[in-house]
Amino acid sequence: MDNFHLPSTYQNIVFFTGAGMSAESGVPTYRGRGGIWKDYRWEEYACESAFKENPELVLDFHELRRIEALKCKPHSGHFIIKDIQDKFPNSTIITQNIDGMHQRCGSHNVIELHGSLWRMRCESEGAIYEDYDRGKYSSRYCDCGNFRRPDIIWFGDMLNENIIQKANLAISACDLFISIGTSALVWPAAGYPQVAKKRGAFCIEINPEDTELSSLYDLKIRTKASLGLKNLFNTNWI
Ligand code: OAD
Repeated sequence: MDNFHLPSTYQNIVFFTGAGMSAESGVPTYRGRGGIWKDYRWEEYACESAFKENPELVLDFHELRRIEALKCKPHSGHFIIKDIQDKFPNSTIITQNIDGMHQRCGSHNVIELHGSLWRMRCESEGAIYEDYDRGKYSSRYCDCGNFRRPDIIWFGDMLNENIIQKANLAISACDLFISIGTSALVWPAAGYPQVAKKRGAFCIEINPEDTELSSLYDLKIRTKASLGLKNLFNTNWI
């Protein structure tokens, strides 16, 4: 890594981020040590049938995650990505994270594959409620009487077609694909590195640990997100 210099020719960059990107901000990951799914069975907290069975419990779980997320702040890695985006407007962030951390440090072109903790929706009316954290919505109910649910992808949910299309478009146009802090186990996100590779993009993985897709990457940086990004972009490139 010390001798690596990122060529300046790349223009269309995709940052593909997972829970490991937010870990240094203090947001827990899903798997591994301290992972959310160790303390909470997703079958009870993160799927449609759990919501039907016990909506208050599921909403409490997500409220707790909002409270925890608000205690955290974007770290230097988030700001490095934002700076790169400012210099290379064609760069896109595709994230599996629902905490809104990229947006909080001013990043744009953020595709949220798994939705956002900060949006709610009413299943029967299709209404979307934005900026949920700002206390605009004191009730958990929509005007129609149904519970609002977090506008996120739970286990067993279909991904949003528009979002998938946007992500596919960004990946099929990218010449540099940088995966940061994802175990790459959840589909279809887990297929994106392969798509980028086939498309001919230079593929970099930043993760302290090996993942199932590590062999696919042209460059593996085995450090935390912030240090990996700092090393990568503290070159002659910017
Ligand atoms: P995971 O929790 O599965 O994986 C987190 C990854 O981040 C692991 O590979 C860690 O090695 C790595 N990691 C930990 N700390 C890091 C750090 N400081 N810097 C860089 N990497 C670090 O999270 P995701 O891959 O994002 O979906 O999980 C994908 C999806 O599975 C989530 O969006 C969620 C989950 O179940 C839903 O809830 C639908």
